[in-house]
Amino acid sequence: MRIAVFAGDGIGPEVTEQAVRVLDALEIAGLELIEGDVGGAAYRKHGHPLPPVTLDIARSVDAILFGAVGDFTLDHLERALRPEQAVLGLRKELGLFANLRPATVFKGLEDLSTLRPEVSGKIDLLIVRELNGDVYFGEKGTRTLADGQRQGWDMMSYAEDEVRRIAHVGFKAAQGRSGKLCSVDKANVLETSQLWRDVVIAVSKDYPDVELTHMYVDNAAMQLVKNPGAFDVIVTGNLFGDILSDQASMCVGSIGLLASASLADGTLGLYEPIHGSAPDIAGKGIANPMATILSAAMLLRHSFGLEAQAARIEAAVAAALADGVKGGDLGGSAGTKEIGDAVLARL
Ligand code: IPM
Ligand code: MG
Repeated sequence: MRIAVFAGDGIGPEVTEQAVRVLDALEIAGLELIEGDVGGAAYRKHGHPLPPVTLDIARSVDAILFGAVGDFTLDHLERALRPEQAVLGLRKELGLFANLRPATVFKGLEDLSTLRPEVSGKIDLLIVRELNGDVYFGEKGTRTLADGQRQGWDMMSYAEDEVRRIAHVGFKAAQGRSGKLCSVDKANVLETSQLWRDVVIAVSKDYPDVELTHMYVDNAAMQLVKNPGAFDVIVTGNLFGDILSDQASMCVGSIGLLASASLADGTLGLYEPIHGSAPDIAGKGIANPMATILSAAMLLRHSFGLEAQAARIEAAVAAALADGVKGGDLGGSAGTKEIGDAVLARL
């Protein structure tokens, strides 16, 4: 069981360090951790955000624990060299097409949401976001029009098989939860979305036990703040999923608690907190490592089938929260290492 640890930029290294402590403490036989450079940190050392040496490590492991990438001091670089390309490149190179982003309110933390507690308290949803296609990876460019002005363009497209495989992930996730799947698109305007909807409907024939609904993305954005408790599993494309998953995390109110998994066919997966590199608090020892610790739990569950160990980590985090161990993002004052200690103590 080989795990690559790519800590990255900003608070990435601090939060990843605590997650590694938790993994070490479990003393799982045969678990091997291999560190690698990604993002701005990799650019500074190797001249590229995803250098060949890192990609080699990524291709040789069973799972990746990822911190965060992003460094605004490198935003002047051409797009291909910017820190974000590390995670985009890994998603594409490793075929990590299925992004699972659960958003659940922890008991007792309903007040952190900007939504009323009786609304936020009901949030328990999973966004299944397609991660290898859409306007993210289509052709793009800047061209000069006949009148001399520049025009930026990005090609949005989805092929049937790309939609089909993420639809299957969505339906299976729904089967494992309450049996409800909501497919989000913009089929009233976009051809890409009409094809998406047609394929999702075709795939639904394989899952007669799942109740499928469709929603336009603008309406989904509204419903997420109006009545988020009505959602269970949402399946959507790359761009809509990017936006809605940030919105869902804010509805929960504690971005420092949300983990995610990006899965390929088989067991390979990349696991990361959904928060970014947070350069404003980097290096201060105050970042909340819980989302990364919970990402390590997802890693054990999805890539290695270590359900009991995953549940142990999740219970330890929940116990620490219940005992009032809270980082600044949750209105508390516990530091990064202190939170790591608290989770370890309850493991
Ligand atoms: C995310 C991030 C990335 C994305 C960025 C860093 C490229 O926002 O994982 O949601 O847009 O997918
Ligand atoms: Mg995003």
